[in-house]
Amino acid sequence: MRTYLVTGGAGFIGSNFVYYMFRKYGDDIRLINVDALTYAGNLENLKGIEDRKNYTFIKADIRNKEAIEKIFAENDVDVVVHFAAESHVDRSIVNPEVFVETNVLGTAVMLNAAKAAWENEGGSFKDGKKFLHVSTDEVYGSLSDPKDYFYETTPYDPHSPYSASKASADFLVKAYVDTYHFPACITNCSNNYGPYQFPEKLIPLIINNALSGKKLPVYGDGKNVRDWLYVDDHCKGIDMVIEKGRVGEKYNIGGHNERENIQIVKTIIKTLQEILPNDDPRKANVSEDLITYVEDRKGHDRRYAIAPDKISKELGWLPDTKFEDGIRLTIKWYMDHLDWMENITSGDYQDYYKRMYRI
Ligand code: NAD
Ligand code: TYD
Repeated sequence: MRTYLVTGGAGFIGSNFVYYMFRKYGDDIRLINVDALTYAGNLENLKGIEDRKNYTFIKADIRNKEAIEKIFAENDVDVVVHFAAESHVDRSIVNPEVFVETNVLGTAVMLNAAKAAWENEGGSFKDGKKFLHVSTDEVYGSLSDPKDYFYETTPYDPHSPYSASKASADFLVKAYVDTYHFPACITNCSNNYGPYQFPEKLIPLIINNALSGKKLPVYGDGKNVRDWLYVDDHCKGIDMVIEKGRVGEKYNIGGHNERENIQIVKTIIKTLQEILPNDDPRKANVSEDLITYVEDRKGHDRRYAIAPDKISKELGWLPDTKFEDGIRLTIKWYMDHLDWMENITSGDYQDYYKRMYRI
């Protein structure tokens, strides 16, 4: 039975990935989730699978070399799926250091521990081992030509401390491949949306604010473009790269779904107006009048757009969820999980919101 070590499995994409894997493989895998439970990690996300016999949660920080080495010593790990990271661009602008510590040093700890555990005498690696490093399209920088896309060959040009830290981590993974022939792959995915996303990110923040009748902050002119992918389609791509991806290769993941931020905000408003029943008092509050243009993000990348040709041609990956369906599913999920939202937006998040927005 194959053993997966997932880092950051209590976060947004990580928890969706854990569900995806148990839906797909059931009792045929063992999965260990290693997470430090920062503000972004929430064990409530995993309630649906926490009692499974083939699932283990370990609270550990990926910067803690001893703790990570102990996990490898005690478990015969076959596949590492490395999600754990500080993931929010705005936070990275205010406090870059923790991004370097977790995203760069933490990745170095993970690579080193996996290498030590998987290496044979003589420097080759045991069969069937793979390290999947989950990265972002933001490492490529920003596109100015509207006909341009990010390919795997696009030179790295990160602008935010977040994307610079992810780019550094990607280069470390590449260094392990080039130097040691370490069995790793990298995936660079576009913006994800779906259940369990922390409401500091655009889509859940707008849904949450609209449902509470609060202003909807739009940075700058609202015309920055992001390429949105439903989270399950990202999980499917990661699983395919683990199964069939060539060792040492990187794969872009994205569904050709570019939207301006203001379009996203208006789509959420329109969908909420359709979904909310007429007798729901929140319905009257949900309108475009809530849209509030605020100061632009520093160094705000203008456009991201992924060319997924390689993963589609080589591995047969295609997205299953159209944006119109995915956004509806996502909005409904947040409406059905108001307690979840309430729990994570109380406390520290309130302070963050006040400092960040002042609206
Ligand atoms: P997230 O912020 O929701 O979750 C991150 C998780 O990592 C949390 O559970 C947190 O507790 C954990 N973590 C943070 N620091 C840790 C540490 N030092 N040790 C152990 N655990 C730690 O992030 P996400 O949106 O789910 O992103 C997951 C990964 O996917 C990241 O590597 C991110 O760069 C990448 N990615 C995200 C997107 C996106 O749109 N969200 C797109 C492409 C790639
Ligand atoms: P975000 O969800 O933070 O993802 P990323 O910065 O990693 O792409 O932001 C998505 C886009 O939405 C980005 O262009 C910034 C913009 N944005 C707003 O306009 N208002 C907001 O309150 C937030 C959080 C983001």
